[in-house]
Amino acid sequence: MEYYFAPMEGVTGAIFRRVHHRYFPETDCYYMPFLSPTQDHVFTPRELRNVLPEYNQGFRAVPQLMTKNAQDFCWAAQALFDLGYEEVNLNLGCPSGTVTAKGKGAGMLADPEGLERFLDEVFSHLPGKVSIKTRLGMESPEEFPRLLEIFSRYPVSLLIIHPRVRQDFYREPVRMDSFAWAVDHYSGALCYNGGLRTASDCTRLCRQFPQVERLMLGQGLLANPALIRQAKGGPGASLEELQAYHQELYQAYLEAFGSQKNTVYHMKELWHYLSQLFVGSEKAMKQIRKASDCAGYESGVAAMFRLPRKEEI
Ligand SMILES: Cc1cc2nc3c(=O)[nH]c(=O)nc-3n(C[C@H](O)[C@H](O)[C@H](O)COP(=O)(O)O)c2cc1C
Repeated sequence: MEYYFAPMEGVTGAIFRRVHHRYFPETDCYYMPFLSPTQDHVFTPRELRNVLPEYNQGFRAVPQLMTKNAQDFCWAAQALFDLGYEEVNLNLGCPSGTVTAKGKGAGMLADPEGLERFLDEVFSHLPGKVSIKTRLGMESPEEFPRLLEIFSRYPVSLLIIHPRVRQDFYREPVRMDSFAWAVDHYSGALCYNGGLRTASDCTRLCRQFPQVERLMLGQGLLANPALIRQAKGGPGASLEELQAYHQELYQAYLEAFGSQKNTVYHMKELWHYLSQLFVGSEKAMKQIRKASDCAGYESGVAAMFRLPRKEEI
């Protein structure tokens, strides 16, 4: 089984990936948060700081693109292939209202003919691997068979399915019957993504779908950075590992941003997930949330690390 880190905009940037991989090297591949190529056909300095291979050394990483314009996609994908990337991923899952209103992300699923034209152009022009990360549809899982039939007509290198429709956002339960349907009806390479929080969740999914050889984990892996190691039969994270991982990430953000406020803001985002590892974390989490500078933040973190940890989340 291969285990992939899900792309998470605002959280799993290049600095995060480097530090996570240093402490928890069992992740087989990191999918990067999306870039939105525009018709200017240039990457911004901020995008380059995330995507350049020199910031992603020592592990496999796949850049992700989100656009409904095939020419812009082809330009950006070719530029990424030229940088040495073997695979580029297309985002067909982002549920945000501002994104879908423009017909991008999950919004592309609402227009199957447009999607087909887009894929025609992409697959007739690009020399490298293109994978897709998709939801089941916009409104209803009944949209999925038609979409799956469209995907089947192209040499998609990997189809990552997050079995929710856009209307489900991240709230509603995943629709396992639709994923099972895909396993039976799609002959290309498949990856499952959604709701895997514990090593037992991963084992259960492997048993249920022995044909599926790839799992992608997002929020569960942010909450428990050693989750892939555990899913592969290894130990959970020790307190020392968690502290060292946290400290290196925190220092790296301080150096990169040169701002306590910005660093603390980023670390709060991570603690939203990481706090789930600790028993009775509410008070320490409140302290972290209230912090606006390093002193307040560090005292909240020290209180968190004094708490007992859960065996399983
Ligand atoms: C804060 C946040 C940011 C995300 N950013 C992206 C993104 O850039 N690209 C993408 O394809 N999915 C993105 N996702 C979706 C995740 O990759 C993943 O599909 C989702 O969280 C479900 O998997 P999980 O239950 O393992 O977290 C994001 C999700 C969250 C919560």
